[in-house]
Parts: sequence; structure tokens; C-alpha cells
Amino acid sequence: MVYQVIIPAAGQGKRMGAGKNKLLLELNGIPVFVHTLKVFEEDEACGKIILAINPQDELVFKELIKQYNLKKVDRLVEGGRERQQSIHNALKTIEDGEVILVHDAARPFIQKDSIRRLTESAKTTGAAILAVPVKDTIKKAADGNVTETIDRSSLWAVQTPQAFRISILREAYEKAEQENFLGTDDSSLVERLRYPVSVIEGDYDNIKLTTPEDLFFAEAILNKRSSIGNY
Ligand code: CTP
Ligand code: MG
Repeated sequence: MVYQVIIPAAGQGKRMGAGKNKLLLELNGIPVFVHTLKVFEEDEACGKIILAINPQDELVFKELIKQYNLKKVDRLVEGGRERQQSIHNALKTIEDGEVILVHDAARPFIQKDSIRRLTESAKTTGAAILAVPVKDTIKKAADGNVTETIDRSSLWAVQTPQAFRISILREAYEKAEQENFLGTDDSSLVERLRYPVSVIEGDYDNIKLTTPEDLFFAEAILNKRSSIGNY
């Protein structure tokens, strides 16, 4: 099944503190966002990539897309102040189709098999997210004191991609805008309309590069993959 993917890349990377968009930092000599886009470029089920960018990065992104021959990038869309606005701007340009994926450019280690399982699920259920079981014990606290230990067996750490029937994601984004709701992921916009969302188990390698130490984890993941194969 052919899907389209929106890739938000219009952030500033403030927590990375690199003085530029963290997506332009290199891993193994290749910019982070190129690693991410290559996965979709090489996935035959991916039809088109719609990339949301900050206009100040436009020239450098265009240059790199050409240099790395990323043919599936159908268009660049201007991002917004928040991630949600960047995705909404992109969503407004999407033609009809069955399934749309949203995937953060800052997660370069996504694997094709996870995308396939996620997409298949969204096709039948309407909405699906990738997540991994939480490993740490999670507690709530207030004023420096524990108030509650949460049962870990029902907790999932949520990643991207998230996949949706296009009509559902459109409705969710429009309602969120009308009602001034700002969510931390795409699924939360869909959940508030009471659509069921399936959870698909992904893998722990699919980290988001957020703070400087994540670059060391990223190197380790790349080394693991080159020494024992891309499993
Ligand atoms: N993003 C976006 N538009 C924004 C903010 C974020 O398209 N206004 C994108 C980022 O480029 C990234 C993804 O959303 O690929 C996840 O965001 P995050 O990890 O928070 O990246 P940044 O916002 O760039 O980082 P920070 O919050 O540290 O500034
Ligand atoms: Mg951010």
C-alpha cells in the first residue's frame, strides 16, 4: 500500500545547542535529516515525502536534497512556530489518499519493518502509533515528594511515525485549531475526538535526537548496525 509521509523539520534544535538546526548536524558524515529521509526514499511503499522547513534553512535543505538525490521529496512547506503548526501547514497541501504518516526528521533510526507494521494497522483501524514499553519505574511527585507510583505495565513511551487515515487526521487538526488545543503528538489530537488508536510495538533504537548526549547514543546505534548488520 502506498502512503504519503509528512516530515516536520522546521524546528530550531534549541535543546541540542548546536547554534543551528540539529537536523543539519552530521552522523557518519551525513546530515541527520538525510538519514531519516533515506529510509523513506528506500521504502517502496512510500509515495511522497512532504517536508516542513523553516524558510531560513530553505537553501541548504534544497541543496542537500539534490546532493543526496532524494527524489521522493515532493515539496517543501513552510513550518510554523510549533511542531503542530508545521504539520498542519503540510497537511493542508495533502491530496486525497488512504494513509498519511507523520515522522519527526529528528528520528533517523526508524526501520522499514516498523513502518510496514504501523501502516498496515492504520489502514484497518484508522489510527496507529509506534511505541515501546517504558523500562523505568515512573513516579509522580509534587514539591519534591513522591505522590504516586504508576503501574508500569500499562505505560508506553510513544515515538513517531504515527499513521492515520487522511480524513481522520484532517478532522483532528482542524478541530484542534478551532479549539486552540496544542498536543505533544499527533495521536493526542485524534484521541480527543474519541477515535481508537492502535499501539504498535517499535524498537528502542528509534530515539529522537534532542540533547547533545543523544549524539553519542546515535554513534553507538550506527556502530552496532555496521558491526552486526541492520537488524
Ligand atoms: N519541528 C517543526 N516545527 C517546529 C518545531 C519542531 O517542524 N516549529 C520539528 C523538528 O524539526 C523535529 C520535530 O519537529 O524534527 C520534533 O521536534 P523537536 O525534537 O522538539 O525539535 P526542535 O523543536 O528543533 O528542538 P527544540 O525543541 O530543542 O528547539
Ligand atoms: Mg521542539
